[in-house]
Amino acid sequence: MRSLINILDLSLEELDELIITACDIIEHPHKYSEKCHGKTLATLFFEPSTRTRLSFEAAMLELGGNVLGFSEAASSSAAKGESVADTAQTVSCYSNIIAMRHPKEGAPFVAAQRATVPIINAGDGGHNHPTQTLTDLLTIKREKGHLDNLTVGLCGDLKFGRTVHSLITAMSRYTGIRFVLISPEELKVPSYITTDVLKKDNIPYEETASLEDALPKLDVLYMTRIQKERFFNEEDYLRLKDSYILDPAKMALAKDDMIVMHPLPRVNEISVEVDSDPRAAYFRQVLNGKFIRMALILKLLEEAK
Ligand code: NCD
Repeated sequence: MRSLINILDLSLEELDELIITACDIIEHPHKYSEKCHGKTLATLFFEPSTRTRLSFEAAMLELGGNVLGFSEAASSSAAKGESVADTAQTVSCYSNIIAMRHPKEGAPFVAAQRATVPIINAGDGGHNHPTQTLTDLLTIKREKGHLDNLTVGLCGDLKFGRTVHSLITAMSRYTGIRFVLISPEELKVPSYITTDVLKKDNIPYEETASLEDALPKLDVLYMTRIQKERFFNEEDYLRLKDSYILDPAKMALAKDDMIVMHPLPRVNEISVEVDSDPRAAYFRQVLNGKFIRMALILKLLEEAK
């Protein structure tokens, strides 16, 4: 059974194919409006979410399918001590495909070992978030026209930010990509990304604490939230929470065609005045998330036949 646990589960050709399908859905939504008639998506969210869960549900509804699920662990049998594997096996009886978010790294992988329907990792702890990366790739493609030859700055919580880990892993497979990793010392990208992805594939990257120094070089700036829920103590969070705030004065340092992305939710790291800058792509990014998830659901259900 084909699941999506890590972005590397999809080949470059498959990423291209999903982007092409998503663009076709944008152009011709009616062609797709009954494609999942009679199929059900289950969303099992053991952690908070707005965009990921609702975009999965909107995606399935716009494909003519049905949705069911839960949005917090407290309302599921996890609260009684049920294992992720047992939950996954159970929900396989009620659905054709499952999107799962869980605070424990690896939980969707464990679920996929027992589920009898495809599992989509909708975020596992501070580890991976492959469907956000699909959203990000579609956004870069639509905004910049290409996914190669780009200098991509990632700023904020690069340690706990799972969207960052999946995006670096995915973009490292395109040619001519350079990364500028902008974070406080304490929140640098984990070594399994620098060693196993960047160094292994000889991808050029630099690490800096200065957003101002990085900005003029960038084609894409990917801002992230400091991941409060993953900190071990409140004191560290309070010290680091306002490390970076993107505002109009900083935007003046950037190229005219740089785009600003953010997986959202934003807290303080992008001031609301930046929203009206045409380079602010983060709300366009939200909409792309629905279309690429439609393409993904179609692909996994087709392969599960
Ligand atoms: C992200 C996540 O959950 O990892 N949000 C999302 O899915 N769009 C980013 C975050 O929570 O900061």
